[in-house]
Amino acid sequence: MASSSPITPRPTTVALSLLILGGTTEASRLAALVADNAEIAPVLSLAGRTREHAPAPIPLRVGGFGGVAGLATYLATNSIDAVIDATHPFAARISAHAASACAIGDVPLARLTRPAWMPEPGDRWQVVPDMAAAVAALGSTPRRVFLTTGRQELAPFNGAPQHHYVVRSIDAPDGFTAPQATFITARGPFALADEEALMHAHAIDVLVTKNAGGPATAAKLKAARNLGLPVVMVARPPEPDVPTFHEPSEALAWVEKLARAKKLASPSHRAAP
Ligand SMILES: NC(=O)c1ccc[n+]([C@@H]2O[C@H](COP(=O)([O-])OP(=O)(O)OC[C@H]3O[C@@H](n4cnc5c(N)ncnc54)[C@H](OP(=O)(O)O)[C@@H]3O)[C@@H](O)[C@H]2O)c1
Repeated sequence: MASSSPITPRPTTVALSLLILGGTTEASRLAALVADNAEIAPVLSLAGRTREHAPAPIPLRVGGFGGVAGLATYLATNSIDAVIDATHPFAARISAHAASACAIGDVPLARLTRPAWMPEPGDRWQVVPDMAAAVAALGSTPRRVFLTTGRQELAPFNGAPQHHYVVRSIDAPDGFTAPQATFITARGPFALADEEALMHAHAIDVLVTKNAGGPATAAKLKAARNLGLPVVMVARPPEPDVPTFHEPSEALAWVEKLARAKKLASPSHRAAP
């Protein structure tokens, strides 16, 4: 069930109503940028997956919308003028729902996402399309695996109990049944020296990660490179074909342009001498 914090009324009726789909650093940075802009009336939406979320500088709602139909209804009921999908690159369902719901309501949609990581000289990446392929890529010989895919992506690895897993996630995982496992709960950013020390201390043979991108968790890739370790890299799912920005300031410029257009089209502006 969704919950909402009180939404502060804005002094102007021509402010652009902006929905930011969040749950990422990029969404939080965009929220901070729009917080004091009188031309924009923003709301930040979170799925409510993490047990704690940081206070937001703009009105916040938490919880799913109820699929495409629920999101389309939310957009119409709240007179949303534009949507920025700043969700995680692997949150494919909400991105697809946003594309469909915005198409239904003819609401402009843009994507704010961090660039994917790219291999560098010395990297030993095996790129795979999904978690099942990542499990297969580990092979049948027992290995010591540093698993950093996030706690909601662990179930496929239960099917390969021959490996020893060192599982790192923000919140402790539920339902991971592989018999040989070490659990580490930690939130990035992580430093290179610490990543190298961790991989060394646990005698890691291979790193498994999603191509989340971004600097906060990139040190593990450099650590693997420095230690000569292979990386099983799960590729990103396809994204909807919408205007895409990598920097919150670029997304803000897109929103500000829409806000100016809305203001110019408003009756009060047209009536002004
Ligand atoms: N997947 C990751 O690796 C990852 C990592 C870091 C952060 N996150 C964040 O965690 C959230 C959930 O990720 P996921 O992979 O479970 O998403 P998902 O599979 O794409 O979405 C599943 C459902 O969660 C709800 N939902 C997702 N994001 C929402 C948002 N920002 N506001 C309101 N409802 C939202 C929607 O429910 P309804 O259909 O009921 O609307 C959606 O259908 C995302 O917001 C994402 O940005 C994900």
